[in-house]
Amino acid sequence: MAKTRTAFFCSNCGAQSPKWMGRCTACGEWNTFIEEVVQRESKTGSGAGQLSSRPKQIDQIDPSSGQRISSGSIELDRVLGGGMVPGALVLVGGEPGIGKSTLMLQVAMQMKVDRILYISGEESDTQLSMRAKRLNLKHSGCYILTATDTSSIFSHVEELKPDIIIADSIQTLTSSNIDSSAGSISQIKECAAEFQRYSKESGIPVFLIGHITKDGSLAGPKLLEHMVDAVLQFEGDHNHVYRILRAVKNRFGSTSELGIFEMRENGLREVSNPSEMLLSQREEEVSGVTVSAIIEGMRPVLIETQALVSSAAYGTPQRSATGFDLRRMNMLLAVLEKRCGFRIAAKDVFLNVTGGIKVDDPATDLGVICAILSSNEDIPVGEKVCFAAEVGLTGEIRPVTRIGQRVLEAEKLGFEEIFVSKYNYKGLDKKDGGIRIHPVTRIDQVFRLLFG
Ligand code: TYD
Ligand code: MG
Repeated sequence: MAKTRTAFFCSNCGAQSPKWMGRCTACGEWNTFIEEVVQRESKTGSGAGQLSSRPKQIDQIDPSSGQRISSGSIELDRVLGGGMVPGALVLVGGEPGIGKSTLMLQVAMQMKVDRILYISGEESDTQLSMRAKRLNLKHSGCYILTATDTSSIFSHVEELKPDIIIADSIQTLTSSNIDSSAGSISQIKECAAEFQRYSKESGIPVFLIGHITKDGSLAGPKLLEHMVDAVLQFEGDHNHVYRILRAVKNRFGSTSELGIFEMRENGLREVSNPSEMLLSQREEEVSGVTVSAIIEGMRPVLIETQALVSSAAYGTPQRSATGFDLRRMNMLLAVLEKRCGFRIAAKDVFLNVTGGIKVDDPATDLGVICAILSSNEDIPVGEKVCFAAEVGLTGEIRPVTRIGQRVLEAEKLGFEEIFVSKYNYKGLDKKDGGIRIHPVTRIDQVFRLLFG
């Protein structure tokens, strides 16, 4: 029997070292090295030289063999860049409980292919069939395999010859080539490498599900990023129903696309018109509410921001923001105070983006400022008014990208007025449609137009 060999791995980037190091030389993180057993029993490790392919001239390679397969979900196809590519290895990452298994089981049940293999190392087959029943989906070609050992998985795969493989999750799989326990860095790397080799050789797309903790510290998704063809991140707030699927890396498409889902009693529903869902239905006009036209991925989306400004009950005013960067809100408050002469330094300010989504598009700035001003003055902003502009440190209103799309989306949803930067207005082709466009340069100008 071979001697037990151990090595040290960085839990941040996966770098390997024969001895412990305080600081990873690859990624620079401190105190991330942990010891793991890496005994090799056979030669079939993650080594190179497995693919016995000769060099080919690029124009001799038939690109039609790379035709995309639809996953049966419009939103997932969009994020993948138009469907699945044969031989692609896709990692679906996300916090536990966010809905990764639900999403992939739905894909498995909806795809129009003959055989799909869903490997589950976390749930039993009865649990999965209960879940499928709850999703109200049927597919006789969906096979469930509850195994975690890769050698037995691959022998089943050889027998079944599925068209798609889903492995839930990579942290539960083990390879007998490596001695350390499931979920350790060397196991995750080895199992992913085995699937990578398999998908490239067979041309069968493989989805790997990976957990990621809040601070991303758990071994797994992070260190797999360079091994896989695409990394999809499934995110959202547990307390809200919306889930966003984002491509963090994609070798076969753009990373700026995203898919939006809604978690329901009976599974995930695709949200094809996000704006309508993110705008709350207002019964009456209330102060402190504004709508901004932002770009999420490639799509324009209208979101609602709510602000509450009140006199501070205690010495230090409180500031809190949900779904919006607190530092950016503080900066906007400082701009209001210093450049525009509004006295809000001694007030509590609370800000909330509805729907539980996080926005980082700077085009939200003007909407946020107007929500704060509206609450401060206690004058509502009209229901049919929306905003799309960035605010600079001098209080100037700055242009944002793709203004045409934003204006069009606002118009489509029945908004009657939109505030944009003067510099954006110059570049707009369609100036007099069904929506009135206010070109503005300064906050006081917006204030006069809104509150008189
Ligand atoms: P799950 O897919 O198990 O998460 P993950 O695989 O990412 O850990 O989803 C878990 C959550 O989804 C759970 O808290 C309940 C919720 N859920 C629904 O709301 N409706 C449903 O139909 C299903 C299947 C799950
Ligand atoms: Mg799961």
